[in-house]
Amino acid sequence: MAPRATDLVLSLMTFLWFPILLFRASAQRYGIATFYTSPYKPSACYGFEDQGVMIAAASEAIWNGSTTCGQHYQVTCLSRMNLGVPKPCRGSALVVMQIVDRCPANACRGTIHLSQEASASIAVPNAGAININY
Ligand SMILES: *[C@@H]1O[C@H](CO)[C@@H](O)[C@H](O)[C@H]1NC(C)=O
Repeated sequence: MAPRATDLVLSLMTFLWFPILLFRASAQRYGIATFYTSPYKPSACYGFEDQGVMIAAASEAIWNGSTTCGQHYQVTCLSRMNLGVPKPCRGSALVVMQIVDRCPANACRGTIHLSQEASASIAVPNAGAININY
C-alpha cells in the first residue's frame, strides 16, 4: 500500500507551522510608545557614549535591571491612544531601535520611550502616545 499523500502533507504542515506559531506567540507583545527629544546623553546604559538616534528608553516592563541595555527591539505602530491624532501610524510603521536608557516608573507613561527620530519613522509628528507591538 502506498503512503497516503494526505498524511504526508499533514505532517509537513505541522512541522513547518509549529515553530512559526511558537515564535510569533513569544515575539508579539502589546504596549504603548511615547517619545522624547534630545539631548539623549547621558544615558543610563552608555553614559556619554554616542549610540546614534535610533534609540529608546525602557520602562520597568522592559528594563529588567539593565539587562536589556543594547538589545534591539522591533516596534510596530498599531493605532492611536484614546485622545491621540486619528491616524498616527505612517508608512510601513516599523522601526528597529536599541535600548540605551531607562524610563523610570514615575516619569514614564508608556512601555517604551522612543527617540524623536525613531518615533518619526513609524508615526506622524506630534502623534503623542501610540499603541504598538514589539
Ligand atoms: C531578566 O534578565 C535575566 C538575566 O539576563 C534573565 O534571566 C531573565 O529571564 C530576564 N527577565 C525577563 C522578564 O526577561
